[in-house]
Amino acid sequence: MAKVAIFASGSGTNAEAIMRAAQSNVLDAEVALIVTDKPKAKVIERAHAFDVPCFIADPKTYETKACFEQAIIDELGKREVTFVVLAGYMRLVGPTLLSAYEGRIVNIHPSLLPSFPGLDAIGQAFKAKVKVTGVTIHYVDAGMDTGEIIAQEPVRINEDDTVDSLQKKVQEVEHKLYPETIQTIIDRTKEVSN
Ligand code: GAR
Repeated sequence: MAKVAIFASGSGTNAEAIMRAAQSNVLDAEVALIVTDKPKAKVIERAHAFDVPCFIADPKTYETKACFEQAIIDELGKREVTFVVLAGYMRLVGPTLLSAYEGRIVNIHPSLLPSFPGLDAIGQAFKAKVKVTGVTIHYVDAGMDTGEIIAQEPVRINEDDTVDSLQKKVQEVEHKLYPETIQTIIDRTKEVSN
């Protein structure tokens, strides 16, 4: 079974959706580790609730970004993690981690990339008054929210939407699309190795 690590910096609702899918066998993978760069992130509680171990790596306590990422890689190695899922991990992945997990790191972003990359993508779309935004899942490269797109799903912005209602709609899509897409990638990887 694929062993997945989820990286998150905040609330962790996507991490929870993935842990729930794995626990109920909707997703044929084991969430072997949650990694967070924020010692007070709510995702830590969510990991405990699902009995998933959590590695808290505070970048301030490492001399360099390479040391920080190497500490994470060591932890991933101990748990035999083969696949990394970024879910609200608000940090650029550096060359150390990218080369260790080349082609095996995916990210979710709350817009139809390449529109509205970076912070507050939902607020950006709302302010731009676009009629449609959405969710993108993509492979991670050295850029910010760049990398080959794997899946996208649109979300309509209605006249009566607020930033909060839009966020709710976007997150509902994320919680369904992310576990489904992870399963698709795992299945594809199995086909290639058979
Ligand atoms: C999600 O909406 C995710 O798409 C976004 O952060 C949120 C995390 O929510 N990621 C980015 O903006 C990445 N550039 P969560 O902690 O509740 O899963």
